[in-house]
Amino acid sequence: MNKNIVLIGFMGCGKSTIARKLAKIFKRQLVDTDILIEERMQMSIKDIFATYGEEYFRKLECELKDELSLKNNLIISCGGGFANLENIKTMGFVVYIYLPFFIIKKRVKNNGKRPLFDDKAKKLYNKRLALYEKNADIKIDNSKLKFKEFAKICEFFLNLNLHNTKISIDLLKNK
Ligand code: S3P
Repeated sequence: MNKNIVLIGFMGCGKSTIARKLAKIFKRQLVDTDILIEERMQMSIKDIFATYGEEYFRKLECELKDELSLKNNLIISCGGGFANLENIKTMGFVVYIYLPFFIIKKRVKNNGKRPLFDDKAKKLYNKRLALYEKNADIKIDNSKLKFKEFAKICEFFLNLNLHNTKISIDLLKNK
């Protein structure tokens, strides 16, 4: 039985891409919470927000968190708001993918797919930082770490079972 690896972090920090790669190298099933919610609702995130509101979307995320907490062996890429939920560590080994906001801003195209990425995104980002830190087993700076190093770190912590050990890995080699 292997613990799930759970990626959290702000919109555009690279969770989905990293999760896809991790799933490939660890040969594990990938779950992207946004995609799963969209598939189940048969609606885009944007339409869920517009039709049912943010609170309803958060309820779906919370239910999904409880459901995924019962599973193992997954690589889970969480929507940026998962940090708001209680007890996300029940889902597995939680990795916070950090990127400074100025890089995120360049990466996220304002194509309307992310209803909360608007002119208040910087404020939301600042508010969320502490939540991501609080909820993570480790924090990894995606602007400073190569993927292979990142994967090795995940493997290391999983093997040693060092959950709940607060570690920040953001001073390793440049990309
Ligand atoms: C959100 C992030 C989005 C998506 C929704 C809300 C947030 O996911 O779940 O638009 O509250 O930060 P990504 O982080 O994958 O963009």
